[in-house]
Amino acid sequence: MAKLIVDGKEIEARDGRTLLPVLRGIGVRIPTLCFHEAVSPYGACRLCLVEVTAGKRTLLAASCMYPVAEGLVVKTASERVIRARRMVAELLLARCPGVPRVREIAGELGVQASRFPQRDERCVLCGLCVRGCAEIAGVHAIDFASRGVYMDLAPPFHRASETCVGCTTCVTLCPTGCLDPLDFRMPPSRHRFSETRPAAGCTLCASESFRSDHGH
Ligand code: FES
Repeated sequence: MAKLIVDGKEIEARDGRTLLPVLRGIGVRIPTLCFHEAVSPYGACRLCLVEVTAGKRTLLAASCMYPVAEGLVVKTASERVIRARRMVAELLLARCPGVPRVREIAGELGVQASRFPQRDERCVLCGLCVRGCAEIAGVHAIDFASRGVYMDLAPPFHRASETCVGCTTCVTLCPTGCLDPLDFRMPPSRHRFSETRPAAGCTLCASESFRSDHGH
């Protein structure tokens, strides 16, 4: 176990964990878009930033990636943290102004509008679908494609995937709802991962339909 100071209070946490679940475990509210406990953290959205002092060094760090260590001093709501999270929220709002979850997070951070040029994306490039496909389904049907402002999520060569099993793990994990289960087999779509494979069905509820009540 490691002792650390969080917002002035000493707590103990198990070595090997990352800060985010530890902070949430003691009731600290931290916004996230790219984190899900079922898959490994990726540090993409930067909403979970906290201020960490380790020895003589203080920095803003993504709490979902930062490992617990003895003697860390963590501030979860300092002025610097709030300012940084608001900036991230503004950038997200500029990219995805029509996505309810993004608007909700921005609103919670006091950001109602963005000063940056607006796009009309629905995907925040959090990569949860990629990690879900690889780590939960074990399929690797999709990945990041292209770079910079052209970055997207797609199957190899932007062709309908031959490995996608239609499990819709990616749809379930997507925080912005930009993946439609029906898109797997029904073009046209940017996220047309598989046109050819039948739905695998849910192993938990035995649903074989993409239109089931639980959204599988
Ligand atoms: S939740 Fe940590 S960077 Fe997205």
